[in-house]
Amino acid sequence: MPIRSIKQLALNGKKVLVRCDFNVPLEAGRITDANRIDASLDTIRYLLAEGAAAVLCSHLGRPKERTTDLSLKPVAEYLSQALGHKVTLAPDCIGDITGRMVVDLAPGHALLLENLRFHPEEEANDRDFAHELARGKQVYVNDAFGTAHRAHASTAGVTRFITERAAGFLMLRELEALRALTENPAHPYVAILGGAKVSDKIGVIRNLIAKVDAILIGGAMAYTFLRAQGENVGKSRVEEDKIDLARELLAAAVKHNVAIVLPIDHVVAESIEPGPTVAIAREIPADRMGLDIGPATVAEFVERLRGAKTVVWNGPLGLFETPEFAHGTLAVGEALANLDGVMSVIGGGDTAAAVAGHPWAARFSHISTGGGATLEYLEGIELPGVKALEV
Ligand code: 3PG
Repeated sequence: MPIRSIKQLALNGKKVLVRCDFNVPLEAGRITDANRIDASLDTIRYLLAEGAAAVLCSHLGRPKERTTDLSLKPVAEYLSQALGHKVTLAPDCIGDITGRMVVDLAPGHALLLENLRFHPEEEANDRDFAHELARGKQVYVNDAFGTAHRAHASTAGVTRFITERAAGFLMLRELEALRALTENPAHPYVAILGGAKVSDKIGVIRNLIAKVDAILIGGAMAYTFLRAQGENVGKSRVEEDKIDLARELLAAAVKHNVAIVLPIDHVVAESIEPGPTVAIAREIPADRMGLDIGPATVAEFVERLRGAKTVVWNGPLGLFETPEFAHGTLAVGEALANLDGVMSVIGGGDTAAAVAGHPWAARFSHISTGGGATLEYLEGIELPGVKALEV
């Protein structure tokens, strides 16, 4: 079913409820990565330029109750700076005071509602709460791709009460990139999967196995696969209860003629604390654990990526937060970014965080702002926040 673009809406003089994903990391009240906010700015600027009054809303964190730590105040301040005029933070997302602020909001101005999750009714997709959220707004725009896998009041329920609806530019960009991965993707098509757990990626592997030509596996999840092949992985992190499943997935890959490429060497250490025991090894000694892919694996992965027309990457290839174990992730990332003629889509969450700040990261075709949402999409699950936009 079709989804309309924000460009197809009549916006002048309208109060527009804009669901954004401003769920950004904070340290001592300061935003440490504003990518998600920056990614929504073109939508907000467009709404204001078209003469809409933009009522922005988002969740932040997973509060059990109202707490100043998870107030959207730092986001209001960031937006005020980025947009060049004051974005006031309403004291709540519903209620009389906020309702009056919405009524008084002039065209061309933006108001930010306080954290939606200060009300448990948001996650419960409560009908009355959704109704309250819709009050006084004539148009609904969803730009919160990162939250599209949640069927919450602000991402799904609210569309019962505002029929005029569309996707913002960020949502449209994200969906376009993901569609290129699932609807007639150009071949050769390679998936790079990493991260700690096989269990997080089972659905993705199952769904991609029928679509891709090769899956390159790194990160701690590779050790469960190596164990399934009977290899010695020392003290590396292995999900014992997923070894049989890994074996099944390896067999399914053979059946679909998909190459599953596992690490052939490793950066090993005694523990996750880097120290004098950090070394490169083909065989992991019994008292060591693998914490990154080694140089021969990097070369092998890069070779497999050469000539690919579509690449999706989800999950870092080592413990990238520790510089000593980040090389594999960064080397493969840089090589992929520098390949020509490839549609390269980087999943959000840890993968986006791992490549953030590196100048070459700008050369990927798309870096998603959604971790969980991208994963669910790649698993073939329909995203409720996208479904609710259908007209
Ligand atoms: C995310 O960061 O993945 C989204 O903002 C969704 O947040 P949630 O996992 O708390 O629903």
